[in-house]
Amino acid sequence: MGALGAQARRGIAVFGAHGQLGRVLARALAPLGPVHALGHADCDVGDEEAVHAAVGCLMPGVIVNASAYTAVDRAESECDAARRVNSEAPGFLADAAAAAGAWLVHYSTDYVFDGRKGEPYGEGDPTAPLNVYGATKRVGEEAVLTRPIVAFVLRTSWLYDREGRNFFSTVKRLAAAGPLRIVADQYGTPTSAMALAEATCAILRHPGAARLGGLYHAACEGETSWHGFARAIVGALGARVEVAPITTAEYPTAARRPAYSVLDCGLLKERFGIALPPWERALADVLRNGA
Ligand SMILES: NC(=O)c1ccc[n+]([C@@H]2O[C@H](COP(=O)([O-])OP(=O)(O)OC[C@H]3O[C@@H](n4cnc5c(N)ncnc54)[C@H](OP(=O)(O)O)[C@@H]3O)[C@@H](O)[C@H]2O)c1
Repeated sequence: MGALGAQARRGIAVFGAHGQLGRVLARALAPLGPVHALGHADCDVGDEEAVHAAVGCLMPGVIVNASAYTAVDRAESECDAARRVNSEAPGFLADAAAAAGAWLVHYSTDYVFDGRKGEPYGEGDPTAPLNVYGATKRVGEEAVLTRPIVAFVLRTSWLYDREGRNFFSTVKRLAAAGPLRIVADQYGTPTSAMALAEATCAILRHPGAARLGGLYHAACEGETSWHGFARAIVGALGARVEVAPITTAEYPTAARRPAYSVLDCGLLKERFGIALPPWERALADVLRNGA
């Protein structure tokens, strides 16, 4: 059994296990080792003592942090709450991982970029978040990457699952009520929670994982606009409803968002031989699994 075998046998602690990614991860990671799924009520990751107590009690070999403050618009007025969960908690978890000798998997976002590049962003591109959510997530990345542990920070984009609060379920609900107006001048890549969870498992199973920690872009392949994504969802659901394109200016929000935040995932492919599926295929998989 390789390095992961020994780590995973000690257990895998998933924090934020009741969020859309956490739920899928808790199921997907089960074949690797015993999973301890910790929801918000089980452990507040913004509470340093609670984090150390939970990790100290479980002594897992792998910690997976799926918790985050993800309300992008609300974060503009709730900076402190966003900072606690997105910037400080990752450091608490990284310190706890160091104390337990555990590996850490943490997730970040395409919203660390300002979208002005106009072509896919690599891990080495400078970050320049446009909103509080992106800025707090960026600090969290560094908190993990600067600790002396085996850590994987996976930046992903436009995450959705068939359950939970996300663009997919919103479009599905609204499509049943009438015509939709969807922003067509913001481009990115929809990524299903299942595709990301499977990539996470593949990273942890990789024989060289123990020496390949670092920052990686991990999103589905391809790109589209929110409007393109909405059309694909509506089409796949067989709903006969108009999806009209609108501009960002026609849909004002509290937080600014990048106009183009496609991630170049070449490094993950190069180092691990892992590529997430094209976003259209991942969407078909989600629908096939009973959306
Ligand atoms: N959603 C996206 O479009 C997107 C895009 C790019 C990257 N990401 C990243 O992907 C990861 C997973 O996101 P997601 O979409 O699965 O988010 P999510 O559905 O909002 O889940 C986040 C979970 O974290 C929990 N949480 C919040 N504050 C907590 C705290 N103080 N202590 C413990 N748990 C807490 C939440 O519980 P409560 O609801 O009970 O507070 C929720 O269950 C995050 O790192 C996120 O930044 C998401």
